Amino acid sequence: MSTPTVTGASLSELKSAYDRDGSCPLPYRFDDASVELLRERVARISAQRRPEVVHEKDSDVVRAIHGCHEFDDVCASLVRHPLLVELAETLIGGPVYVYQFKVNLKQAREGAAWPWHQDFAFWSEEDAMPRPDAVNFAIPLDDVHEENGPLVVVPGSHTMGLFDLPATSQDGTSDWRRHVSNDLAYTVDPARAQRLIEQNGRRTILGEAGSLHAFHPSIVHSSSNNRSADRRALLLITYNAVANAPAAPTRPAFLVGRDTTPLTARHDDRLGLLPAADPA
Ligand code: SIN
Ligand code: MN
Repeated sequence: MSTPTVTGASLSELKSAYDRDGSCPLPYRFDDASVELLRERVARISAQRRPEVVHEKDSDVVRAIHGCHEFDDVCASLVRHPLLVELAETLIGGPVYVYQFKVNLKQAREGAAWPWHQDFAFWSEEDAMPRPDAVNFAIPLDDVHEENGPLVVVPGSHTMGLFDLPATSQDGTSDWRRHVSNDLAYTVDPARAQRLIEQNGRRTILGEAGSLHAFHPSIVHSSSNNRSADRRALLLITYNAVANAPAAPTRPAFLVGRDTTPLTARHDDRLGLLPAADPA
């Protein structure tokens, strides 16, 4: 299958929307066969006992899997998909590499919330990432609706700096388990998030499985518990500018990619990306 190309005009429109709002839908979606293949790989990895597989607190329920592009061939192809690489390079401005890859599974009824936070708080405090010159691509592997814990973002909050950082390094903040759990080490005060919402509004990122959305490392975001009978698996790829790579990261390599060579795009027939029927 051929890869749809992005026209110059729509690329610059996407970049304008991303720069202004800190999040935007990307007008493409992975076809059903690609989504099914990714689900199969996620199921296979989730069943393995390995450090990249993280569970919900005091539970056997898998919360997330990490770094899969390093050991699974489909995930390795996904991060190199020509259109994803082109979109990431456009939104960031320059060559990129994979900083982080994860799938947050948010299992039916059991998947726990992600409190209000900014990703760049973790990356600057823990990894000394110099600037938020990175982008998250979110690809749901299940349909996302209001009840299965969608991502909620505050548009424009990515331009306001980092909120509510601890004054000094506090006990436990460097424990990487608190970077992937419901008990997050760096959070935005819920009252502040509420004020930001009153000021800027909120955007709930809904969409069908396979859809594509970009969001900024500094945007204030959260997602609630999964109250529904439907799983909400969300695959997240973080591309970072090669020029913005942390000098000496210490967190596990499955949380902070060590290979900072510019990503080379590679087509894989198993991953079909189509223009979305309705980009809104
Ligand atoms: C979620 O999976 O809902 C949270 C994703 C994130 O915080 O990046
Ligand atoms: Mn986040």
